[in-house]
Amino acid sequence: MKSILVTGGTGFIGSHTCLVLLEKGYNIFILDSFINSSSQSIEKIILILNEIDKDINRKIHLIKGDIKNQSDIENVFHISNKLNKKIEAVIHFAGLKSVSDSVLNPITYWENNVSGTINLCKVMEKYKCKNILFSSSATVYKSESNKLLSEDNICEPYNPYGYTKFTVERILSDISNRELSEWRIVCLRYFNPVGAHKSGYIGENPLGKANNIYPQLTRVAIGKQSKIYIFGSDWPTYDGTGVRDYIHVMDLAEGHLSAMNYLLKEKPQFKAINLGTGIGTSVLEFIRTFEKVNNVEIPFSFRDRRKGDKAFLVADNSLAKSLLNWTPKRNIEDICRDGWNWQKNNPYGF
Ligand code: UD1
Repeated sequence: MKSILVTGGTGFIGSHTCLVLLEKGYNIFILDSFINSSSQSIEKIILILNEIDKDINRKIHLIKGDIKNQSDIENVFHISNKLNKKIEAVIHFAGLKSVSDSVLNPITYWENNVSGTINLCKVMEKYKCKNILFSSSATVYKSESNKLLSEDNICEPYNPYGYTKFTVERILSDISNRELSEWRIVCLRYFNPVGAHKSGYIGENPLGKANNIYPQLTRVAIGKQSKIYIFGSDWPTYDGTGVRDYIHVMDLAEGHLSAMNYLLKEKPQFKAINLGTGIGTSVLEFIRTFEKVNNVEIPFSFRDRRKGDKAFLVADNSLAKSLLNWTPKRNIEDICRDGWNWQKNNPYGF
């Protein structure tokens, strides 16, 4: 069976994707620095999968290392070759992801997200592994209307984090554009990934303060936070609060599997593809749904708009549907139920 290197594989989206890859029989090599995640996510994956495969451990190679160090990346390729499990493709999640942090620490963000990816590409080229799925974001888009965002929309990031994602896409596209390039590259532009695996064993585990809406919903529900502040009640949307495309992390993980199948069978190329549901949900609607589905109360009050926020960010996902043969299967109720289940089972995270 094929071997895949998953950088950042113990994080939120990485761990759910590893689970799906393992279910399909792939061998996985995970390179992770654990600066914002825990190896416990992999222990939990083993617990989930042991029921179907008692030897699942043999398919998982977890290696501590940082993409900022080229030698750490080389080490993984070296190990895989020694084990006779040549890495066929890379899913590249490793990176920093807080917008507010990126404004405070731009150098750290450029170093991790951009220099780290350049290191990875150099090593991949050296080991003749030229297939990569890159974890990009809808944050690359310019959005000023209530139109669905398709891949040909203008890109114009508005914070350092977004710029690092956009820059990596650009570097990968340059690599692909060379004459006789053998690289197969897919950049997956995520909308708002939320929820958790339905087992309640793995989920989002933010270290420190959560800025995004979803972890705050579950924190309020469990009593770790007193209420939610809604940023703005006067957006040009149907109820005045911001509208986003919340996608269940398991749908996203399955999107990676579909993209991997696509990547490995197609000719060398570069593609950017949205992973979203195409359905918008407002902050108020999200809170109300969470309350109803889980029978909990979420106190909230309104605050001014957050700097840099947009009214409406929703995917046109037709390219993913047609090219990858992928369709999201879970709705906003599933998101609310599964994320709450994870939080209840893990009140202190991992
Ligand atoms: C944020 C990032 C984006 C990243 C995405 C996924 C920003 C500006 N953008 O998107 O780059 O890809 O997370 O991690 O941070 N909201 C509140 N109160 C809160 C928090 C959020 O009302 O305490 C509202 C926001 O105004 C927005 C919606 O909830 O309308 C979603 O916000 P959030 O979860 O932070 O995600 P995004 O800002 O869409």
